[in-house]
Amino acid sequence: MTNAFAPLQFLPAQIHVFDSLPSTNDYLKSICSTTENTPEGTVIWALEQTAGRGQHQNQWRSETGKNLTLSILLKPASLKAIEAFRLSKTIAVAVLDTVHHFIQKKVSIKWPNDIYVDQSKIAGILIENSIQGEFVKQSIIGIGLNINQESFLSENLPTSILNCSGQEFPLQEVANHLLARISKRYLELQLGNFKTVDSNYFQHLYKVHETQVFFIDGEKETCTIKGIHADGTIELIVNNQIKTYLHGEALWKI
Ligand code: BTN
Repeated sequence: MTNAFAPLQFLPAQIHVFDSLPSTNDYLKSICSTTENTPEGTVIWALEQTAGRGQHQNQWRSETGKNLTLSILLKPASLKAIEAFRLSKTIAVAVLDTVHHFIQKKVSIKWPNDIYVDQSKIAGILIENSIQGEFVKQSIIGIGLNINQESFLSENLPTSILNCSGQEFPLQEVANHLLARISKRYLELQLGNFKTVDSNYFQHLYKVHETQVFFIDGEKETCTIKGIHADGTIELIVNNQIKTYLHGEALWKI
């Protein structure tokens, strides 16, 4: 394990880099449970995860040393649990900013917070919040961003910065950029400036106003995406009716 300091603007981050961990989210969670005042901005970065986790109990697979797999501890003062989707949007937009910096292609946010280039996923975000009373006490932000991996086994055909730009990048360079963007966007959130993130999120929303197939209650439904509510629910037109669903109740078919 090595220690380094990243050039963060706002977060006084400590970065702990590991050759291999089961999951950076799980490791950060275990530090937080054993060390009471783990500083906000602590970053756990692993070159390999042996049990990387994605959303909905999926695995997150990433070739050793090729991509970024890291977790960040945030303690968003006065963010209410019912407003937690604000943080999710903030992180999604910061990851989108980072991908935009390295590639000149259309980058989108697929509800709720996957990052896509054209039809391929380039980054996934797993946010695990601890709630105390009405508030988000701490948030573990897990990010998997594909950088120098060329081929993928997953049937969903993910992509990487290399595949989209034809160029390899040092992981440290992308990590520095990502942490600086999160720092900037997070500062906006802490200052109560939600407008920019909201408009960037909606401006880059994948397939909005388009017809898509979702699994709803186990059935395939052809829906039109109308928008996303402040609480993170998606508004769909299903069989000529407007309905809203939580993430998990309506699942993308792809
Ligand atoms: C998803 O799209 O399903 C979310 C993927 C999140 C993967 C990252 S990699 C770093 C962190 N540690 C984990 O075990 N998962 C997240």
